[in-house]
Parts: sequence; C-alpha cells; structure tokens
Amino acid sequence: MARILDGKEVAQRIYENLKQSLANARSLPKIVLYCDQPDAATRSYMKSIISRGKKLCIEVEMLQASNSVENDVRSLNESDDVAGVMIMHPFKDTDEMTALSLLKHEKDLEGRTASSLGAVVNGEWLFAPPTAEAVMEVIDYYEIPVAGKDVVIVGRSTTVGKPLAMMLLKKGIDATVTVCHSRTGELDKKTSRADVLVCAVGRANFVRSTMVKPGANVIDVGINFEQGKIVGDARFDEVEKVAGSITPVPGGIGSITTAILFRHYGTSLKLMEARG
Ligand SMILES: NC(=O)c1ccc[n+]([C@@H]2O[C@H](COP(=O)([O-])OP(=O)(O)OC[C@H]3O[C@@H](n4cnc5c(N)ncnc54)[C@H](OP(=O)(O)O)[C@@H]3O)[C@@H](O)[C@H]2O)c1
Repeated sequence: MARILDGKEVAQRIYENLKQSLANARSLPKIVLYCDQPDAATRSYMKSIISRGKKLCIEVEMLQASNSVENDVRSLNESDDVAGVMIMHPFKDTDEMTALSLLKHEKDLEGRTASSLGAVVNGEWLFAPPTAEAVMEVIDYYEIPVAGKDVVIVGRSTTVGKPLAMMLLKKGIDATVTVCHSRTGELDKKTSRADVLVCAVGRANFVRSTMVKPGANVIDVGINFEQGKIVGDARFDEVEKVAGSITPVPGGIGSITTAILFRHYGTSLKLMEARG
C-alpha cells in the first residue's frame, strides 16, 4: 500500500508560517478577485478564497470588470489598499490578455503574467503558478527524491505542466523531466518509467496501475467530478497498490494550492512594505 501524502498537513505548515509574517505586518491590504462573468465553479472557488481570507483576517473583494479593463488594472496596480489580484475565469479572451499584460508582477498572485512565468524559466521565481508550486511543495515536504530521477508530467498547461517542468529542471533540483500531452505516443511506456509521476490531465481515473512503475511517487493534480464525487486523474484504488506514495484527491494538491496563493499574498505584502 502506498504512503498517503497528505496535502492538508503541507498546507498547515504554509499557513502557520504565513500567520507569523502577517502578525508583523503594518497593515493587511486586500486581495481582489477581478471577474467578468464568473460561472458556478468560479463562484464557488471565489467563496472558498474569501472564507480562507476571513480565517487569516485578510479582506478578499470581488470586483466586476468595468468597460475599461485598462483603467481597472491600472488602478489596482496603483492602489496601496490592494496587495494581490486574481483574474478569474471565464474572462473575455482579449480582455484577459490585456489585464495580464498590464498587471504588476508584484501583485500577480497566480503567477500568470509574462514576468512571473519568465522568472520561473530563469529559475528565480517569487510567484510561480500556485498549482505547479504546490507540487514542488509536496516534493519538498515529503522529501521525495527528484535529483537525477525521471519525472514524467502528463499535461502541458501553462498553469501546471509547463511551469512545473521548468521548476524541476532548475539547477540544484535537477530532475530529468518528460512532459506528455494528448498527442504523446506510447504514453504508458513513458509513465511506466517515471520515478515521480505527475498527473495533470483533467480526466477522471485516467492513470491506471499498469501505467505506474512499482514504488513510484504519484502526484495527482486532477480535480474531476464523477457521480457527484471529486476524484483525481489517477484511479486511486488501483494505483495505491502499486505506487510507493500518492497524493489523495481531495486532500492533496488542491489544499496546498490555496495555501500557496495566500503565501504569495504574504510575499506581495513584503514587497509593498519594502517599497514603503
Ligand atoms: N489541484 C489544484 O489546485 C488544481 C489547479 C488547477 C487545475 N487542477 C486540475 O488539474 C487538471 C489539469 O488542469 P489543467 O488546467 O492543466 O488542464 P488543461 O489545461 O485542460 O490541460 C490538460 C492537459 O492534459 C493533456 N491531455 C488531455 N488528454 C490527454 C490524453 N489522453 N493523454 C495525454 N495527455 C492528455 C492535454 O494535452 P493537450 O495539451 O495536447 O490538449 C493538456 O496538456 C484538471 O483536472 C484540473 O481541474 C487542479
């Protein structure tokens, strides 16, 4: 049976560290959830961020986009009352690109701007995409060896697979990374070589035990809904019998991702205070 890598425990450590740094802060400027036409899933996500903010005494405000995204983002950038901004999906494509091109790197809690992503490529990130950072956090917390190991990531999105590959390739972290996607040939062969297998596909129970090397560490990023239940990308009941360790869904990467968002808030706050 695989060791269960509890994401809540990892998140707890992040929140404890954050609480200490917030206790020393001069003030707690707010987080803005900048939205256009949020759907039910986004509304529920926003509620969870607001509720976590309350626990940390951080105000989280929803802001509806006006007819000038440029003006909105410029004033968010300039406001000392705002420490961080999240641009919520779904957002009209062109407006989203405009918002991302204008948003200050220091307020980019989700690591989505070109500067944030460029820093990830350079190996010197402050604000990496939180889900990719959550995977790195679980690796660090549970001391999963990656240096010189084969890490296979299934999924090449800009929020997970691509930034995670860059982070794992950083000198000093030194993983050998394979990134797979929907056009990858012989996927099973590639995943079966992995010492660490990261699943970020978005398909329930996609990764079966036959795709996993015995003893491998499986990090399941997927959040899928099946018959009213949340399940990951890995077929948990099968894979846990083969893997050396596995993150559960729920209670794995998702819990850490939200904690990382708030850690980014703490970083943003420090940058604001340093500027005076
Ligand atoms: N835990 C968290 O906090 C968190 C945060 C974000 C996302 N998620 C979850 O993580 C999952 C992935 O999210 P995402 O935003 O990265 O999704 P995405 O943008 O839809 O990307 C999915 C990736 O999976 C690849 N893929 C799809 N079918 C495949 C197949 N048959 N074989 C191999 N690769 C395949 C796609 O390949 P192509 O590029 O070729 O299409 C794509 O690269 C989703 O379940 C999402 O809900 C969780």
